Amino acid sequence: MCGIVGAVGTTDVVGVLLQGLQRLEYRGYDSCGLAVHRGAPLADAPWPSERGLVRARSTARVAELQAQVQADGLRAATGIAHTRWATHGAPAVHNAHPHVSRGPGPDAAQRAPRVALVHNGIIENHEALRAELQARGYVFESQTDSEVIAHLIDSLYDGDLLAAVRAATARLHGAYAIAVLHHDEPQRLVGARAGSPLVLGIGSATDGPVPHYLASDALALAGVTDRIVFLAEGDLVDMALGRYRVVGADGRALDDAARPVRVVELGSQDVALGPYRHYMQKEIFEQPRALADTLEGVEGIVPELFDDHGIRSRAAWRVFGETDRVLILACGTSYYAGCVARYWLESIAAVPTTVEIASEYRYRDSVPDARTLVVTISQSGETADTLAALRHAQSLGMSHTLTICNVATSAMVRECELAYVTRAGVEIGVASTKAFTTQLAALFLLTLVLAQAKGRLSAEDEARHLRAMRHLPLALQAVLALEPQIIRWAEDFAAKEHALFLGRGPHYPIALEGALKLKEISYIHAEGYPAGELKHGPLALVTSAMPVVAVAPNDALLDKLKSNLQEVRARGGVLYVLADADTHITSGEGLHVIRMPEHYGTLSPILHVVPLQLLAYHTACLRGTDVDKPRNLAKSVTVE
Ligand code: G6P
Repeated sequence: MCGIVGAVGTTDVVGVLLQGLQRLEYRGYDSCGLAVHRGAPLADAPWPSERGLVRARSTARVAELQAQVQADGLRAATGIAHTRWATHGAPAVHNAHPHVSRGPGPDAAQRAPRVALVHNGIIENHEALRAELQARGYVFESQTDSEVIAHLIDSLYDGDLLAAVRAATARLHGAYAIAVLHHDEPQRLVGARAGSPLVLGIGSATDGPVPHYLASDALALAGVTDRIVFLAEGDLVDMALGRYRVVGADGRALDDAARPVRVVELGSQDVALGPYRHYMQKEIFEQPRALADTLEGVEGIVPELFDDHGIRSRAAWRVFGETDRVLILACGTSYYAGCVARYWLESIAAVPTTVEIASEYRYRDSVPDARTLVVTISQSGETADTLAALRHAQSLGMSHTLTICNVATSAMVRECELAYVTRAGVEIGVASTKAFTTQLAALFLLTLVLAQAKGRLSAEDEARHLRAMRHLPLALQAVLALEPQIIRWAEDFAAKEHALFLGRGPHYPIALEGALKLKEISYIHAEGYPAGELKHGPLALVTSAMPVVAVAPNDALLDKLKSNLQEVRARGGVLYVLADADTHITSGEGLHVIRMPEHYGTLSPILHVVPLQLLAYHTACLRGTDVDKPRNLAKSVTVE
């Protein structure tokens, strides 16, 4: 989803802006752009002949924007840049950011830009503001909600950009992270956030003033700086050459203690593709390592496992002791991880568990319960609906909150009482893979901790489960070795337009996740169903043109699943079955079986999802889709 990068320095920052955009590309975007201020001298180049705000935009990739600015020889010491994921107004150059304001009046188009702005989020009252600004003579160039902010700031500007941004943000309803430049203040950059993430990066200089950066994600600054200040809700940041100032929502300056500088591990090597064709493929194959890292240091089942993320001191013992119920809130793939966990939490820990899609929970009337532990699951930790659902639960009086999240510095981790930070590493592919399996591992640990708190985990069970978890990386390696067989399945799927995925018990959410993966990246219509529900509807769709994938571990439901498979075969449906080694299901006419290397018991969903990830990946490759950046989708959904 939209990304922001900004910089104020003494040397050319265009390279930093473009590199930042490239690092944010994985979030998904449909256009990009940058604006620089050429009104300040560059330490390493002659003073530019054309001064003032200059903008370049493109509906192609960042690489194209880069070629454009290189051809124009654009260099400057202050600038802002953006990747846009369209919400208001089609993906088109005139809707791409930065937006500018040239002031009011019919001759505005002939004037140089006075304000340049990039925005992430959605301004809900943009129509009223647009009408008001139009009445005052402002001419709009785009259909975006963002352009109103540029004109609003212009209308409020009286020689001090920070004051104008503050006054403008006071009039905005909705979510935003913005970065703003003004023609009259060449070495100043002002940012503000409410509802969308924004961080400040502090650079270094051997002599002269230190450069400062702004970004919607610290990852955008990997390789530039690892010294980061995380801005909080309502913060504004005023950046000038060699200095910055954070101002709170109430207008008071916040000192280093309130907004500390953190050194963040950005692992720039993580974002290298290496020998892989796509990030998704790389991330599927990284899963043994990601699981090993996520479970590193887990010697025994203790509540402190969820305590240790170094933001505030936590009280995990008390929280788990006071937990009677669990409410899981998440979106997308993370939601399906929650659905698997419900089976574990109810069967192993006997804790009643509800799993709800965050965007539904946040807007419906629900019955709060102070003894419910609210668990959010999020790869990014910035998903707008999940964050809003968390805050909604807190506002209803549910103070016990825990997140399972892949980004230690995210809003989700900061805002939850307890956290387990998965160590999947940066996930670039829009379709989540290694984040999902590591979330499942963390959710299994949560299950065991709650089982222990409820007196339902014997020392033998604890040792057995821990042994099984430690075996996961090796078990996953063996599953990944099935790839050649999956490619043969993918060759069949590539020619289809529909597919059905069946599972039972904790493998029902795995079927849902398999269907989601296939539809996201290959654009094949796919649905996941609990196998027992087949005859209540989807069986009507089954023909030889609709492949049916069944996840068939050797569990208590295997015989029932076998009957469901017969129902498919009897209607001419072609089956693709992921069977455990000991299930005695064998390939035959219209029945393709891949045998999983071992029987994994309770942890089986973590293993069974991997062939489905590979199936989606290879099918998409054969269909020639943009695997890592599927159309219309974004990695980090920071707006509603
Ligand atoms: C987007 C991504 C999905 C992800 C979902 C939730 O839709 O494309 O891969 O599962 O957001 O994201 P989160 O970061 O909260 O896990």
